Amino acid sequence: MTSSPTPTLVQALQWTGTALHVLDQRKLPETITYDSYSDAPGIADAISSMRVRGAPAIGIAAAYGVALSAQQHYQASSTTWREHIAADIDTLAASRPTAVNLFWALDLMRQALADATDDPRMTLQALAIKIHSDDLAANQCMGELGADLLVGAKGVLTHCNAGALATGGYGTALGVIRSAWKRGLKNIYAGETRPWLQGARLTVWELAQEGIASTLIADSAAAWLMRSGAIDWIVVGADRIAVNGDSANKIGTYSLAVLAKQHGVKVMVVAPTSTIDWTIANGDAIEIEQRHAGELLPACYHHAESLVSAWNPVFDVTPVALIDAIVTERGVILNPSAHGVSSLRA
Ligand code: MRU
Repeated sequence: MTSSPTPTLVQALQWTGTALHVLDQRKLPETITYDSYSDAPGIADAISSMRVRGAPAIGIAAAYGVALSAQQHYQASSTTWREHIAADIDTLAASRPTAVNLFWALDLMRQALADATDDPRMTLQALAIKIHSDDLAANQCMGELGADLLVGAKGVLTHCNAGALATGGYGTALGVIRSAWKRGLKNIYAGETRPWLQGARLTVWELAQEGIASTLIADSAAAWLMRSGAIDWIVVGADRIAVNGDSANKIGTYSLAVLAKQHGVKVMVVAPTSTIDWTIANGDAIEIEQRHAGELLPACYHHAESLVSAWNPVFDVTPVALIDAIVTERGVILNPSAHGVSSLRA
């Protein structure tokens, strides 16, 4: 068995060599159950149904999906296997629109496929495992860099889940909070993150798995928390960062950043460079996923004649002017701008 890296206690994804085991995050925290996938369409469904979620984890799962596609379709005697794998890549790319890590990982896999002159199976598997382990290493590095900024902080607020569950392990925003907690940070607040409750169901649970205490707040309590003086920083992940530093993240992040400005609280965005979209100048070009109204509406409104509908954008874009620091594995950009972000380009 060629296994995926062993990161922290909580693992969203486990690679066996012939299947991807996906922790079903829709059922947390009540039930811990892994579903096994052995083909790419299954993984695309796991992504779109949010069994696996979080920008880096989506990219990693998709990379394993391409490796599985090669295992399913490659035949030395056939000439059509490349087309089958290419079709699976397209299916994976259509699973969710906002997190650029998905397209970044698929581009790497597509390129490796194009470079393979014959049997691509070992190459694609090795690349998927590398994408996974590189993400874990990036998170551990960002954890230390971000924790340096939190020295002396009274408290922090995070939003959504940007933890081990959302990544290859350790987490981005939650990685920084983990590292800061090891250095003595005490007051960790998590917003519940309506409507899907990533904060209430995932973040506080993930922290508790490692003995880290946290305090859950209703999203609507954030301004009052800031007003109380309990926090100095908001620490969040990102799904896509434009070249000027505008950052898309879970819906509600923009609201927090606006509130932070009013209260003198700083905003830290933590994301690997795989989250930077080098093709877009600013956040206006980021496609914001709209999810089904049924995720928001009470069941009594789920019928065709209902007078009540719902608007359910699941990401928003925080303008760079509201961001104090972008932390990546290649370094920290304070008061980010296009110049600073461009300096991170390999
Ligand atoms: O809809 P989700 O749960 O996939 O949204 C996840 C987020 O918005 C995270 O904050 C982001 O992907 C960063 S994860 C390290």
